[in-house]
Parts: sequence; structure tokens; C-alpha cells
Amino acid sequence: MTPDFTGGSVPDSDGTDSRVTVSARVDGVMRSVSVEPRATVLQVLRDDLGITSVRGTCGIGVCGSCTVLVDGKVASSCLLLAAQVDGRDVTTCEGLRLPSGELSTVQQAFLDRGAYQCSFCIPAMVLTVHAALQDPEAGCDRAAVREYLAGNLCRCGTYPTVLDAVADLMGDGIGNRAEDRSRGGTA
Ligand code: FES
Ligand code: FES
Repeated sequence: MTPDFTGGSVPDSDGTDSRVTVSARVDGVMRSVSVEPRATVLQVLRDDLGITSVRGTCGIGVCGSCTVLVDGKVASSCLLLAAQVDGRDVTTCEGLRLPSGELSTVQQAFLDRGAYQCSFCIPAMVLTVHAALQDPEAGCDRAAVREYLAGNLCRCGTYPTVLDAVADLMGDGIGNRAEDRSRGGTA
């Protein structure tokens, strides 16, 4: 288990210390971080915890590059304050790896299909597909999975190969494999 990241305290201009401690399970490991109240989940994941697969671009909830799963549900980490995930489960693309260290079926499907170009957007895409496949109302419906992906923008236009990977996952049902449902899922 990685030690806590307490980062010291920064006094406010009036001399008071306004930092708050946030504890959450991140990729299956309990982490505690002392942050300013305005710190976003995106900032904490990248700057305090060093999880750089979570990427900030627009900062206003439009591009999807900062996607994480909070309690198994897709969320834009640029819009979430760290304090809002206190006591909750946060999953990044790194957290989808199986306990054996192997890639998850979704990660492997992207790799097999070459569903990446510069890859800036891909960790978020992988998380979104992972969540969609585990949504009882969307997981068996390709149109619904596409709808999930509507919030993930890709400047390289790699959508066709992403959808190929989705088709592979839905074609043989491996996207619903039990071991994956336990990784940031709702099962
Ligand atoms: S950086 Fe969060 S949605 Fe674009
Ligand atoms: S692969 Fe380059 S932004 Fe999506």
C-alpha cells in the first residue's frame, strides 16, 4: 500500500489552514490525501497520486479525457471536487488490470484492434466501454454503447477501431466476464 500523501499545509491568506483530508479507494487501494477544498479529482489523481492516464483537456466536462469511474459509474474528474469522492471507489484505466497483472478484456480488445493513435483519449475510452458493458441497460446493446462513447472526443478520429473493439467484446460476451465485473464495476 502506498503511503498517504499529506503534502503539507498551505495557510489561507487569513492565516487559517483550510485543507481537508479526503480518503477514497483508488484502483483498489485506500488513499488519503490532504487537499485544498477546491482541488478536483483530476488534479489529485495526477498531481498527488501520479496517475497520469487521467488527462485534463477542456476542464469543463466536454471532452471526456478525464473520465474515471466513481462507484462504477462514468464521471468527469475535472468537474468533481476531491471531497465529493470521500469514502467512494475511484477507478482509473490502470485499475482495470486483472489481479494477475494481465490486461482486462476491454484493454486487450483495444490493443488487439489497434484502437489508438496518439492514445491521449484512450484510457478514458477504455473506462467508458468498460462501464457501458456492465450497465444492465446498455451492455448488450451496441447503440447504447455508442451513446456512452458520445462524451469521449478523439482528435485523431480513432472511433472506427474503438467500435471494432466494442463489436469484438459484444460478439463473444467477454466484456461481461465475471473477473472484469469485479474491477470497478457494479457486480
Ligand atoms: S477535461 Fe474533463 S471533460 Fe474535458
Ligand atoms: S487517439 Fe489521439 S486523441 Fe484519441
